[in-house]
Amino acid sequence: KVKFASMSKPKILITRSDYPKNSIEALESKYNVEIWDNVKNGDITKKDFVERVSGASGIFCCLNDRVDKDVIEAAGPSLKVVSTMSVGVDHVDLKTLKSKGVRLGYTPDVLTEATAELTVALLLATSRRLLESNQAIRNGEWTSAWAPLKWCGPALKGSTVGIYGYGRIGQSVARKLKAFEVSRILYGSAQEKPEGKAIGAIQTSLDNLLKESDFVIVTCALSDKTRGLFNKDKFAMMKSTAIFVNSSRGAVVDQDALHDALVSGQIRAAGLDVMTPEPLPSNHPLLSLQNCVILPHIGSATYQTRMLMADMVVKNITTALHGEEMPAEYAL
Ligand code: DGY
Repeated sequence: KVKFASMSKPKILITRSDYPKNSIEALESKYNVEIWDNVKNGDITKKDFVERVSGASGIFCCLNDRVDKDVIEAAGPSLKVVSTMSVGVDHVDLKTLKSKGVRLGYTPDVLTEATAELTVALLLATSRRLLESNQAIRNGEWTSAWAPLKWCGPALKGSTVGIYGYGRIGQSVARKLKAFEVSRILYGSAQEKPEGKAIGAIQTSLDNLLKESDFVIVTCALSDKTRGLFNKDKFAMMKSTAIFVNSSRGAVVDQDALHDALVSGQIRAAGLDVMTPEPLPSNHPLLSLQNCVILPHIGSATYQTRMLMADMVVKNITTALHGEEMPAEYAL
């Protein structure tokens, strides 16, 4: 009897065993969950994803998992909701989901502040050369207690900051940077946004933003429009003293062009929380550059934020399976 009851519950495929415990338990208490043990087996492969998803009503996934046409079709007609623990949805085949009437849950808002904080941290780490100077100590290169011009970098105060992708995260970065007394905040957008005015940020074209900014910050979503957008031509437009920071998606950057721009001195430095591929191999050429700060995609990585994201994933699943309004449904 018990077995029959549990068999009749909707199946949820959870793509990792290391999602916050509460969220897994909340789903276990209601559904027939299948959990991919990534701690033991590594991230779920496409083959395993396709195999395990069969008959699922819901998928709890994250940006590592490509929810493509094959996966969606392998799930079959039972699939009602894909719930990703991310605000980015570029790993999901939106067209196929829409055509099959499957709802998509994501996690906006709860990660805005954490990601904006990390973006500012990356900006400071890059401009003030935190990793490079720390590494110098470890290498025994700190030989004089204080040196007038060693490990100097450009000041934020009085600078022009350009933000490309002036949505929730971009606006939060702008608000935070005001406290550093930057002189101007530009945002690249085809149209003026009311939120720009409220912060005193100035709307301009991307090309103008690149030409005028001392710091170029990218917080846009990855789309057909933004894929590879920051290429050789765009780096050529930037000041030779510019610092480029990306906390959105690696694929918005032509990484070879960025590497060349950093090596040739076309721009001063870059701070990246995202890149291609992720994880970046430890022998990647970008990692050998002193003027490139690389972090392992930790924008939203505060305990509080990750718990809120996981809760939202669960609520998106449970509400969708009841045919109710979801806390954060992505409009397909
Ligand atoms: C997202 O949510 O899309 C971030 O890249 C990771 O939290």
